[in-house]
Amino acid sequence: MTRAILVTVPCLLLAGASSEPALHVNGDRLRDLLVSLSRFGANPEGGVSRLGFSKEDQAARGWLMERMREAGLDVWVDAAANIHGRRPGGDGSRPMLLFGSHIDSVPKGGNFDGDVGTLGALEVMLALRDEKAATRHPLEMVVWSNEEGVHYGKGLFGSRAAARGPDAGELEDKDEQGVALAEWLRRYGVNPARIAEARLDPRSVAAYLELHIEQGPYLDRRGVQIGVVEGIVGIDRYHVAVQGFANHAGTTPMDERKDALVAAARLVQAVREEVMAKPGRQVGNVGWMQVSPGAPNVVPGLVRLPVELRDLRREVIDEMAARIRARGETIARETAVTVTMERYSTDEPAPTDAALRDLIEAEARGAGYTTMRMPSGAGHDAQSLGRAGIPIGMIFVPSKGGISHSPQERTEWDDCARGAEVLYRTLRALDRR
Ligand code: HGY
Ligand code: MN
Ligand code: MN
Repeated sequence: MTRAILVTVPCLLLAGASSEPALHVNGDRLRDLLVSLSRFGANPEGGVSRLGFSKEDQAARGWLMERMREAGLDVWVDAAANIHGRRPGGDGSRPMLLFGSHIDSVPKGGNFDGDVGTLGALEVMLALRDEKAATRHPLEMVVWSNEEGVHYGKGLFGSRAAARGPDAGELEDKDEQGVALAEWLRRYGVNPARIAEARLDPRSVAAYLELHIEQGPYLDRRGVQIGVVEGIVGIDRYHVAVQGFANHAGTTPMDERKDALVAAARLVQAVREEVMAKPGRQVGNVGWMQVSPGAPNVVPGLVRLPVELRDLRREVIDEMAARIRARGETIARETAVTVTMERYSTDEPAPTDAALRDLIEAEARGAGYTTMRMPSGAGHDAQSLGRAGIPIGMIFVPSKGGISHSPQERTEWDDCARGAEVLYRTLRALDRR
């Protein structure tokens, strides 16, 4: 079986084969960094499985911290396992310009989600080193821990811990192997008892910028190079349990069954219908189902499933949840089962900063790139900081075919370089202000 590897085509921008002005960042170097990172947790079919708090993630972090030290940064890991790389600027009295993203992935994910923002940030630091540039503000890149939240179920762990602290009891949460989150913090070399020290003082941050792939179809479909993010969706996740009665599949009459799977199947359909009941960009998802006891000749007695709801407006998320809950009650009555729906994770919607939007747009256009303003249907660490009152800005680059969280996730190398260039230019412009 041939292993699908990322193809290393030269970055045309650098080769001057473009009418666009020369880059400050090095597109080929960024591509090589992305290719190197992709081997940690690589899957034979392509893409990557590098869950937060895993050995693949830990190995990738070791490699990355080496690269950050080579860039001349002061590197440390905070008590929430976020990696920081600082470059001094001015007399150190000004609040820092903070920028970064994540490197953990979903299972069978792609090599651009988070990676482009993190290595784009490193490439900016490398370009500044090469230029021996002096800045007025300290610059700090950050790699947030467990952004995806597939491991332990809650996303944005590191940025939430920095912005508002972990949720109550979150460090004691156990995974499928019975390992507590706190144990992984220890394995990452940090002391969970000192988690409060990971808190960021919002006054110490002048602004936070995050470069990210769009993960949706709009930039690619419209042939636009840079997305200026207006706001990041809120994301609520629910544990749903459908409790029926496990019984013999041969001898239990059809009309006497309390079939949890029949009820769960109807509930999945109800989620789709209620999410699509009103016009708008709101979305809902049921990402897996666990059926017990799970045998062909046993009527399913219990089904567990997650419901995830997203929108830019808090009230729309709550409304969808209420309608789905009501549908659950109806289904429970009609199928003689019980349905419980408990919210276990919530990330609030976050608007980006208006001045940063204008600046990103101006700097992108100044570099000769086309731009469009758009919301983010994906969640990002930026929203944790935005909710803590830190001005946030996000830069999107196109995702081929709008595909993400998939081995087929792709962003052209030139687009990665353009994104890093806009990040570089926006930071320099912010620093001058
Ligand atoms: O799920 C998300 O939206 C993001 O990719 N973490
Ligand atoms: Mn991401
Ligand atoms: Mn993601």
